[in-house]
Amino acid sequence: MTERETWATRLGFILAAVGSAVGLGNIWRFPFQTADNGGAAFLVVYLASMLIIGIPAILAEFVIGRRANTDAIGAFRSLGKSNWRFVGAIGILASFWTLSYYSVIGGWVARYVAGSVTGSALAAPEGYFGAISVGLPSVVTHAVFMTTVIVIVAAGIERGIELATKFMVPSVIVLLIGLAVYAVTLPGSGQGYGFFLTPDFGVVATNFTSILPLAFGQALFSLSLGFSVMITYASYLGRDDSLFADGLLIAVTNTFVGMLAGLVVLPLLFAAGVQPGEGGVGAVFISIPTALASLPGGGLVGRAVGVVFFAVVLVAALSSAISLLEAAVAYAVDTFGLGRVPAAVGLGVGAFALGIPSAIDTAWLEWFDGIGVTLLLPLGVLSVVLFVGWAMGSAATEELRDGMGLGGVSPIWLWTLRTVVLLVVLVVVALNFQDLFLTPNAGDYYIVPPLG
Ligand code: TRP
Repeated sequence: MTERETWATRLGFILAAVGSAVGLGNIWRFPFQTADNGGAAFLVVYLASMLIIGIPAILAEFVIGRRANTDAIGAFRSLGKSNWRFVGAIGILASFWTLSYYSVIGGWVARYVAGSVTGSALAAPEGYFGAISVGLPSVVTHAVFMTTVIVIVAAGIERGIELATKFMVPSVIVLLIGLAVYAVTLPGSGQGYGFFLTPDFGVVATNFTSILPLAFGQALFSLSLGFSVMITYASYLGRDDSLFADGLLIAVTNTFVGMLAGLVVLPLLFAAGVQPGEGGVGAVFISIPTALASLPGGGLVGRAVGVVFFAVVLVAALSSAISLLEAAVAYAVDTFGLGRVPAAVGLGVGAFALGIPSAIDTAWLEWFDGIGVTLLLPLGVLSVVLFVGWAMGSAATEELRDGMGLGGVSPIWLWTLRTVVLLVVLVVVALNFQDLFLTPNAGDYYIVPPLG
């Protein structure tokens, strides 16, 4: 057998993990969640949940991955806890599931880069989105995006994922900073900053019970937890890394990118007098181009800013999609001894096929997203927390201590995981289940929407 791959550098691992965490969630979801839920006051709650929930939970996945040194399902056998293999199975299923429709959205974004170059994406945003997001055009861009993901993952950890994300993540950050600086110069952008950053503690205080789970949920989603992705990435780590320092750095960078995105998206919309949309799958593709079209500079500036903006989103989506495919590929390679290239091609094509309904009809996409985010993700996180907190015990603290130099933190971490994190995740699971199974949706259905 050939030796298992590892990251070439510590920075390589950190950038790959940040690449996974930074995605559509940061660029679209985060600014609006903040704006809608008390602005800077929500930010404070979110930062607290990052610290209290997000960081302990990401460390839990790191501890499993590095200790087991194999794929996310094999990990549990290697730790002598074969009964817990379902934990990794939920995660890998979740990532494969998510990849299927994530790639569809990634394809749309690629199309928008091209559409910004030619200007057609800005000319009639609603019609453009309607035309490219369904049917054959959407299947074609889905195929293009998935092919790119397959090529990078097939190239391996060091020469594929690490090399790619080493360029991708810094580009995203630099370009976003550039866009944020540009946004400052727009007349009328001030209102956007106000919307984003004015603390409204009243909103947080009166809606505490609904805002708290939102902030917790966003922290978990944003760190890509529950998908076995962080387990898999950590399994390629060496023993001398400080998991604690790395986790902290990843969470801070991820939050920083979310903030930056807010400082780009909201001023842009307000400067153009575009109402921040309702969210939803199509919003980023309609309200942003509408805002771009009305920028000063006679169309050309709008197109140029559009190219940069959608390129940022594309790269962010790509580096997340890579991690989704890698979780499943690692399983095929480590557990079944498959070659990396056939594994990446086979699983990538499988995820492509699973994504075809989402590419054809956005109702399917929303359904896949709903199941992934409200069902698989919280179950994945819950099972990881139960495993590390209660089944792994002292092996977990020992693993975290390795390479850390801050041994005192480990017992506090385990205690937090067993109590606060577990409690919060249980609440999130309960709320999501209520939402999914007990609250009828607009068409009086529970989980499966009438499609077509
Ligand atoms: N963290 C990603 C974002 O903010 C979304 C996401 C959730 C994700 N779970 C994931 C990405 C798993 C890759 C893998 O957009």
